[in-house]
Amino acid sequence: MTVVVLGSVNRDVVCEVPRLPAPGETVLAVGTRTNLGGKGSNQAVAAAKAGGRVEFVARIGAEPDPSLRKSLREFGVGLEAVCEVPGAHTGTAYITVASGENQIVVDPAANFQWETDPELDATAAARLITDADVVVAQLEVPVRVVDWAARRARRFILNAAPAAELPTDLLHRCDPLVVNETELATFTGATATTPPEAFDQARELCRSGVPAVVATLGAAGAVWVRRDGGTVVGAHQPAPRIHATDSTGAGDAFVGALATALARGDDLPAGVAFATAAAALAVQSPGTHTAYPDHEQITAALGTVPPAAQLP
Ligand code: RIB
Repeated sequence: MTVVVLGSVNRDVVCEVPRLPAPGETVLAVGTRTNLGGKGSNQAVAAAKAGGRVEFVARIGAEPDPSLRKSLREFGVGLEAVCEVPGAHTGTAYITVASGENQIVVDPAANFQWETDPELDATAAARLITDADVVVAQLEVPVRVVDWAARRARRFILNAAPAAELPTDLLHRCDPLVVNETELATFTGATATTPPEAFDQARELCRSGVPAVVATLGAAGAVWVRRDGGTVVGAHQPAPRIHATDSTGAGDAFVGALATALARGDDLPAGVAFATAAAALAVQSPGTHTAYPDHEQITAALGTVPPAAQLP
């Protein structure tokens, strides 16, 4: 059950604030910290901690930073296809966190410096991607590279974060496409405010040719839809009631755990329930990698995940 994660690595500079600043407003932080993040590295660590055999494909800066590789390796993430880009620095994310909510600005740096497709075909990444049970990507690396990976994957999961317009052909390879409410709105043109609305929008995306869609809805859980013969089936997966202290990277915990579940053969409903348990645990501790639960913790928490509800 091999998972390949293609994506970003960032140094996260995190400021805890009493409330998120309005445009033009200055807010004093009550604490700051830096930790390793980036949606790619977060999902790689989440998938590895959830029990997957994980290889990571990424581009980092050329500055000496042994702690970066050491930290990912300690979580069990394979680094054969993590390459340094001469003259570039590792990406940085500037994050403000308040009462469980966050705002993030990313300087992508090395995350956007990749070889051409023919050059990529000659790298270890091409072999790892072709051999993997599941390949996962996000959009903090160029869409062109994501598309390159999708074309070579046996099963491809795209977490379309941050939101971007995507070629139809790429969307039609996503099994599933994973989005939050904001990202879902970029594909549908309308913001869903309830699980039934998100379900309707996800179903429309599915009918337009995306094989499967999962929309994460924060405290309201997630909805999933997939094509089943000539029809589209799906459900609302509620989340357990918990107190969230830091939602940063919660979506990454969800996607990483989902990838591991699908790679080991779970069907989509079981994978979404497993991922819901993982995300609920992740938001109860600050940070990302260290906040993510391991396989045993997720399995134990599955009992707190409410049963899924069929939607018409
Ligand atoms: O999804 C959370 C991540 O988004 C952070 O770790 C930050 O690096 C940004 O990429």
